Amino acid sequence: MEFNIGFLGAGAMAEALIDGLLKVRLVAPAQIIAYDIRRERLQHLQQVYGLEPVASREELLHKAEVIILAVKHQNIHEVLSGLNFKGKLVISIVAGLTLARLARLAGEVPLVRAMPNTPSLVGEGMAALAKNEYVSQADLDKALAIFRSVGQALVLPEEQFDAVTGLSGSGPAYVYLFIEALADAGVKQGLARQVALQLAAQTVLGSARMVLASGEHPAVLKDRVASPAGTTIAGLAVLEEQGFRGTIMRAVEAASLRSQSLGKEKSLCK
Ligand SMILES: NC(=O)c1ccc[n+]([C@@H]2O[C@H](COP(=O)([O-])OP(=O)(O)OC[C@H]3O[C@@H](n4cnc5c(N)ncnc54)[C@H](OP(=O)(O)O)[C@@H]3O)[C@@H](O)[C@H]2O)c1
Repeated sequence: MEFNIGFLGAGAMAEALIDGLLKVRLVAPAQIIAYDIRRERLQHLQQVYGLEPVASREELLHKAEVIILAVKHQNIHEVLSGLNFKGKLVISIVAGLTLARLARLAGEVPLVRAMPNTPSLVGEGMAALAKNEYVSQADLDKALAIFRSVGQALVLPEEQFDAVTGLSGSGPAYVYLFIEALADAGVKQGLARQVALQLAAQTVLGSARMVLASGEHPAVLKDRVASPAGTTIAGLAVLEEQGFRGTIMRAVEAASLRSQSLGKEKSLCK
C-alpha cells in the first residue's frame, strides 16, 4: 500500500500490529514510523524490524498519513496536545476513548476507533472498527487492512462497542479459564499436566476453526459429536445442569455493563 503508518506509542499492541503489517507485507519497514517516550522501545523496534526511530511526535506526523494512537488512556492528552491532524487518518486503539471525545482532542478529521484483542499478538486477533463521518471508503479500507494483518476485523456502530468489549475484548480471559479447567479435568483423570494442557488448547483452537471454516451453526457441529448414549452427551448433560450457557451469557453481560460504566467515568475526565 502507498501510505506511511505512524505509531504514537510503541508498546505491546503497536508491536503486534507492526509485526503483522510486515509479515503480510502490507507495507515495507521504511513505511512504518514509531514514536514512544521510552527510547528502549524504539531501539527494540529498530533492531527487530528495521524501523527508523523519529525524534518527536511532530516528525512522525510529518512523515505518516495514517496515525495510530497506541498509548494508554491516561496518556492520551499529552500525546495529542499541540498536534494538528489535518489531512491525516487517525486510528485509535485506546480502550474506552469514544469518537466524540477523540474529535474534541484531535479535531474534525477522519477518525477510526478500533477495539482489538490480545490474540492480535499471535496474528489471530478480532477487531471491531467504528468511524466518524469524515472517514471515506478508502480510509476504511486502509484501517481494515491494518487490523486484518493481525487477524480479523469488521466495522460496527460505536454503540455496540461495550458489547464487543464484553465479548471479544474480555473473551480471551474466559477462554483461558475454560482451557485451564479442561486441563485440570484431564489431570484429575490421570493425564500429565503438559499433555492435558496441549489437548485442551488444541481442542479449543480446532473447534473454533471448525466453526469459522464450516460456517455451520455451533449446535449442528455439537450434535454431530454427540452420539446416542455416548460419552459426549453425558458430558454435555452435566454442563447444561450447571447452567454453562447462562453463565457465559451473564459473564459477557457483566463485562459489557462494566465497560459502559468505565466509559462514563472516562468521559467525565478532561
Ligand atoms: N494490549 C491489548 O491487548 C489491547 C487490546 C485492546 C486495546 N488496547 C489499547 O491499546 C493501547 C496500548 O496498549 P498497550 O498494551 O500497547 O500499552 P503499552 O504496552 O503500555 O504501550 C504504550 C506505550 O506508549 C508509551 N507512551 C506513554 N505516553 C506516551 C507519550 N506521551 N508519547 C509517546 N509514547 C507514550 C508508553 O510508555 P510508558 O510505559 O512509559 O507509559 C508505552 O511504551 C491502550 O490504550 C489499550 O487500552 C490494548
